[in-house]
Amino acid sequence: MPLTPDVMFRRSNWADAPAIEAMFARCSPESRYARFLAPLDAVPPDHLSGILGAPAKNAAWVGVVRDRPDTVLALGSWSRDGSEAELALIVEDAWQRRGIGSNLLRTIAEGAWSAGVCRLTASVLTESKHVVRMLRSVLGPTSARADGYVSHVTSDRCDDPGFAPTR
Ligand SMILES: CC(C)(COP(=O)(O)OP(=O)(O)OC[C@H]1O[C@@H](n2cnc3c(N)ncnc32)[C@H](O)[C@@H]1OP(=O)(O)O)[C@@H](O)C(=O)NCCC(=O)NCCS
Repeated sequence: MPLTPDVMFRRSNWADAPAIEAMFARCSPESRYARFLAPLDAVPPDHLSGILGAPAKNAAWVGVVRDRPDTVLALGSWSRDGSEAELALIVEDAWQRRGIGSNLLRTIAEGAWSAGVCRLTASVLTESKHVVRMLRSVLGPTSARADGYVSHVTSDRCDDPGFAPTR
């Protein structure tokens, strides 16, 4: 799905923290639960400080409306451990189903591959079939390991001879 033209992505930084918290507060309990696999009312402070404050191991992007660049409507990030990373994203409910999630996922994944990550995993609700479909459609071949109500979906390029990290 093409990205709706009034939305853009940019790398996130500490100045976005209040707008990220506000976006999360506007999300439904279902979306918040699907993102953190727990019934949270707020973004955990250690998660926020990790993705915004430790650039060697993390990277985060926000989705914003072009003419309101300080209002966050989506957040995507990865956190790495060596050549592996866990990615996650959330799109505010009012902005879902417009292609933002798929395009943000592509942006996050490209950032991770180009940073030298060769194995990317997303932990999603097993019942969220559309999320698994979106991951497969954007990341290509994936494996999925179900662990009760959570599934770990992995795209693994570590043995791909064509994989060439740029840094
Ligand atoms: C998963 C999520 C990021 C997708 O964002 P989005 O902006 O709606 O994504 P897109 O518009 O690109 O849609 C992706 C696909 O999912 C489908 N989809 C989106 N929401 C759906 C829903 N509630 N039910 C069924 N299908 C849905 C879309 O139709 C699209 O499928 P298509 O490409 O075959 O048409 C968003 O639903 C979300 O934030 N969910 C809560 C958090 C979460 O589950 N995060 C993922 C785990 S970390």
